[in-house]
Amino acid sequence: MEKLDGKVAVITGAARGIGRADALLFAKEGAAVFVSDIDEAPLMEVVKEIEAAGGKAGGCAGDVTKLEDCQKVMDKAVEKFGKIDILVNNAGLTRDALIHKMTDAQWDICVDISLKGTFNCIRAASKYMLKAGHNGKIVNVASVAGLMGNIGQINYSAAKSGLIGLTKTVAREWGRFGITCNVIAYGFVDTRLTREKETQQEEVAGEAVGIPKKVRDMILFQVKPMTPEDAAKPVLFLASDDAAFITGQVLNVSSGMYM
Ligand SMILES: NC(=O)c1ccc[n+]([C@@H]2O[C@H](COP(=O)([O-])OP(=O)(O)OC[C@H]3O[C@@H](n4cnc5c(N)ncnc54)[C@H](O)[C@@H]3O)[C@@H](O)[C@H]2O)c1
Repeated sequence: MEKLDGKVAVITGAARGIGRADALLFAKEGAAVFVSDIDEAPLMEVVKEIEAAGGKAGGCAGDVTKLEDCQKVMDKAVEKFGKIDILVNNAGLTRDALIHKMTDAQWDICVDISLKGTFNCIRAASKYMLKAGHNGKIVNVASVAGLMGNIGQINYSAAKSGLIGLTKTVAREWGRFGITCNVIAYGFVDTRLTREKETQQEEVAGEAVGIPKKVRDMILFQVKPMTPEDAAKPVLFLASDDAAFITGQVLNVSSGMYM
């Protein structure tokens, strides 16, 4: 008996990084996984990878900033697998700049994806989750930047901090359906968002992401970096019945980056 046998999980931002690792781990633990991302080609590779390993998967591209896309994703997940037990709101990006240099566009895209995107997905899934005795699990993805603030990340810190209030409100409103809602605050996970900015080639939504070498070296001097696979394990815990009585909590998964 695996931890997620018989469960259906929807995971956003699952084309790569932490979301992909969540999807692979959940499938290994017996869940039928419906993945979504704004980038369709790598997303479909994740579906194929899960199926090739003998797991159950489906996928549909979508932009979490658009409620209609989120509704389409949830509808297709239910069309394919019949229900939604678990929702992981993982899609996010960084768009760093010092306060006096940050543009409206940088603020908006970051807050829209992390904060409004999570609200959109929860609203879209409500059609399938708000049932007596549903006992579903929602896991949101924040950052220690939302707990401690971070130089160059006023947009990201505000969005991730906002997810904490959002999470507690969902936990309170939906607790009567047996649904839990928690949020993970990660520290440093090795993905394209945390690679060396000066040498990374990959752009995300038209801008370079990553961390300046100087800052990155300083972080790595103090904390043990996580792989996406390391980062997926606490998501599995919060999505499983082991965490059935944990709700409205912020789980700090940061190797002591913030304590
Ligand atoms: N990497 C870290 O150290 C770290 C630390 C704290 C929090 N986080 C959070 O973890 C989550 C995953 O990040 P990651 O590090 O795996 O980054 P990543 O860039 O590897 O993965 C993020 C995924 O989200 C997708 N995405 C972006 N905008 C989207 C949109 N509008 N709609 C749908 N999908 C969209 C991307 O295409 C990408 O596949 C994010 O919410 C991020 O803020 C990461």
